[in-house]
Amino acid sequence: MNIPFFSFAGTHDPLKAELTKAFEKVYDSHWYIMGNSLKEFEKNYAAFSNTTFCTGLANGLDALIISLKTLGIGAGDEVIVPSNTYIASWLSVSYVGAILVPVEPREATFNINPDLIEAAITKKTKAIMPVHLFGQCCEMDKIMQIAKKHNLFVVEDNAQAQAATCNGQITGSFGDINATSFYPAKNLGALGDAGAITTNNADLNHKAQVIRNYGSQKKYFNEIKGVNSRLDELQAEILNVKLKYLNGWTKTRVDLAANYTQMLKGVGDMRLTDIADNCTHVYHQYVIRTNKRDALQEHLTKNNIGSLIHYPIPPHLQEAYKELNYKKGQFPLAEKIAETSLSLPLYPGLKTEEQEYVASIIKKFF
Ligand SMILES: Cc1ncc(COP(=O)(O)O)c(C=O)c1O
Repeated sequence: MNIPFFSFAGTHDPLKAELTKAFEKVYDSHWYIMGNSLKEFEKNYAAFSNTTFCTGLANGLDALIISLKTLGIGAGDEVIVPSNTYIASWLSVSYVGAILVPVEPREATFNINPDLIEAAITKKTKAIMPVHLFGQCCEMDKIMQIAKKHNLFVVEDNAQAQAATCNGQITGSFGDINATSFYPAKNLGALGDAGAITTNNADLNHKAQVIRNYGSQKKYFNEIKGVNSRLDELQAEILNVKLKYLNGWTKTRVDLAANYTQMLKGVGDMRLTDIADNCTHVYHQYVIRTNKRDALQEHLTKNNIGSLIHYPIPPHLQEAYKELNYKKGQFPLAEKIAETSLSLPLYPGLKTEEQEYVASIIKKFF
């Protein structure tokens, strides 16, 4: 058997006719930027996220940067971020000139540990950026309470967890303004780069709309120095098609994860992900941990099974952040996770017998 780490076949192949029709609709409209497909997607994704507003953007990193900009966060302001995240969360804070204040995760969930947040708050703190890593919703009940107590903004990084929940409330609807990514391999992915913000705040949404379009509401009249970060009509129409299937794909991901958990529980020294009380997981990635990670990955590769490390180097040890002078050992949990994590193949279309094969090869290794 040959099992790739990821495949679009299970999501895209059954939709080829529908996606082609979506392409033709936009092609024939002769209108490619800021048209009806975008308006419709913004309405649909706001409804899906249970928010009043959505603004489509060019990608998830821009969505984070623009979220921070709408809140007026900039030089001298501190933003609490997880030490354990994809570097995009950190880059957004850096790009607006604000100060990163990393907080360690709970080892069992990979997500920011709410019990450590209050100790990181100072007079300069303006916002908390929870990242729903690998598809598990952060403990938003606790995070929102802390934010309220200290009068802080919350910006969710919801790139990886569309449709996950905490106490039944969906990601992208907790914070003041929230960012998501529709990078192709995300749970809801476009056929290219795309992203969005969601919010219940009309003023913040309006600001995001102005920023994404050169700082202009009226053609050639520029109120502020904006950027070009528009979600184009083609990607919006593709996303309109795919959004209808997201709940089904999420269910498939959850079922596939349950299969792995059943097959792999108690095998070797492997540690499987725990889910925080009241939270749900939509398994953007199925991440296991083992002290023999590199040898296990080699063994999987030899047996034609794809796997990936999310992420081999935590942001504070990346070359890009060398000016912050973080030392190895400064965020030990983020480092330990980086040294021991391995993501297994999990995507709609993966068959039970393929999962059984993956599990049997892992059992053979241990
Ligand atoms: C946690 C997280 N935040 C932000 C982003 C940025 O999204 P994009 O690649 O669409 O810019 C990603 C993308 O991988 C991500 O995983």
